[in-house]
Amino acid sequence: MLIDTHCHLYDEAFRSDFEEVLSRARDAGMEACILPGIDRSCHDDLLAVADALPGFAFPCIGLHPTSVGEDWQEELDFVRNHVNDRKFHAIGEIGLDEYWSKDFVEQQIRVLEEQIALAASLDLPVIIHLREATGDFFRVLEDLRGVAFRGVMHAWSGSYETYRRLLGYADFKFGIGGVVTYKNAGVAVALEKMSLDDVVVETDCPWLTPVPFRGRRNEPAYVRLVAEKIAQIKGLPLAEVAAATTANARRLFQL
Ligand code: NI
Repeated sequence: MLIDTHCHLYDEAFRSDFEEVLSRARDAGMEACILPGIDRSCHDDLLAVADALPGFAFPCIGLHPTSVGEDWQEELDFVRNHVNDRKFHAIGEIGLDEYWSKDFVEQQIRVLEEQIALAASLDLPVIIHLREATGDFFRVLEDLRGVAFRGVMHAWSGSYETYRRLLGYADFKFGIGGVVTYKNAGVAVALEKMSLDDVVVETDCPWLTPVPFRGRRNEPAYVRLVAEKIAQIKGLPLAEVAAATTANARRLFQL
């Protein structure tokens, strides 16, 4: 059984065939999924899916770096004001993204630091989105030295050296997704040496579709293709990868 630790199942891409998507996910061995938040605009849809699928879809709340703009203060207040509404399983996804835009980098850093501090105070894990901002992320981690927190580096595609370095700062897990199936994926090389104890699987659906469906909509069932690829890279049976990553996910998100 598998847990998709990063699943935007509430996205409108799944609205027309939601039940079929769900039954394919169950057929593929998926037993649960984590629903990362993005900003205010998706919050109600996310909760609707979580309420429709109790024990299967677990909600999170957070402000995504690409949603940090002019109204960042209101967006951040929304997270603060709603984080205790119910049981959320993580603060996320949060992070830094200097790929899409550098216009609000300072605000992204502030919003990230405040949300990590919030997660630490509530004993919740964080889901980190990091794109083209590794240097600034390490500066944030230095600023937060002494703040004990845990979380997952979502859509992990970094080197073995960066993986080792991150583990010096916090109790991180590493979310492996469809990118690992791409030809010449650097993360496949890093993964050979990474401990399976540090790995969780994810789809990031509807995005980042694995081979052989690349170019089409991603969906939760494909989490199995990711697990199969990890098993192949590490020379382990699929069942062992499934058991380890599921146990890691259950512990991290307190499922
Ligand atoms: Ni995401």
